[in-house]
Amino acid sequence: MARAREIFLCPPTHVELTYSINPWMDTSAPFSRDVAMKQWEGLVEAYSDVFGSRWVHVCPPQEGLTEVCFFGDSVFLCEGKALFGEFRHPERAAERPYVQSFLEQQGFASRNVPEGVTFEGAGETVMWRDKIVFGFGKRSDEVVRHFLRQAFGHDTIDLEMEDEAFYHLDTAFLPLADDLIAYYPGAFGPIDNATIESFDCDKIKISEEDAHRFACNAIVRDHVIFGTQGCDLWDELRPLGFEVIELDVSEFLKLGGGIKCLTLQHYVTGSWRSTTRRPALEG
Ligand code: ARG
Repeated sequence: MARAREIFLCPPTHVELTYSINPWMDTSAPFSRDVAMKQWEGLVEAYSDVFGSRWVHVCPPQEGLTEVCFFGDSVFLCEGKALFGEFRHPERAAERPYVQSFLEQQGFASRNVPEGVTFEGAGETVMWRDKIVFGFGKRSDEVVRHFLRQAFGHDTIDLEMEDEAFYHLDTAFLPLADDLIAYYPGAFGPIDNATIESFDCDKIKISEEDAHRFACNAIVRDHVIFGTQGCDLWDELRPLGFEVIELDVSEFLKLGGGIKCLTLQHYVTGSWRSTTRRPALEG
């Protein structure tokens, strides 16, 4: 399976709940930036403890970019290359240039989708085997599948997001291994459900309760899962040999985000995995 060579995060130093662009965001709900910061620090600590701090890169926060803690939502990274998109909502538009200049400084070769096309990056893309699974419909335009194929040379599996609450692919689809995925059927229409069912692997359909706990919004590496605490899915996965590290990200759920949204993965596959480094890391 494709694997994250490294991850990028950005602290929620300036996070706020002052606008609502998805059904999770209730601006009248109590929201604590301090709690969010502690939860984020817990996540970074867990990543560093398990895989070492060399795996983890942190981008400085920027005042005014309240949701840039969901660091990957404007970009997909694979094998040293970056494809940047534009956000659907103007509230988040200023994040893309900030994230782009940071990642260009890190040595990624970058491209942008054409003007007028929306694409919410890692929110809509997860790698499975050597394919890019791509979600569209609510936040990203379907046409982006062509740009993904062109830019990265990997085939895509395209799934349309059907439910406002599960507006990004990473809220409803979770590859666990080459032969196992988990997903929430309620997020997809009948044709895409049939497509997923036809995959030649084992599938776990998660419950509506787990979907609402953001069970699919997890990071998986080498059979270690960093997932939202209290999901039933973890009890199904532990007997299959997965180690699950459960984390409290409740403050981020109020924004409609979770662990995967906070974590931008730089994927590598095949020979790239063992032999190639991105330019900034050479030497
Ligand atoms: N409030 C943010 C939005 O609606 C949350 C983004 C969550 N990111 C994700 N990858 N699912 O855009």
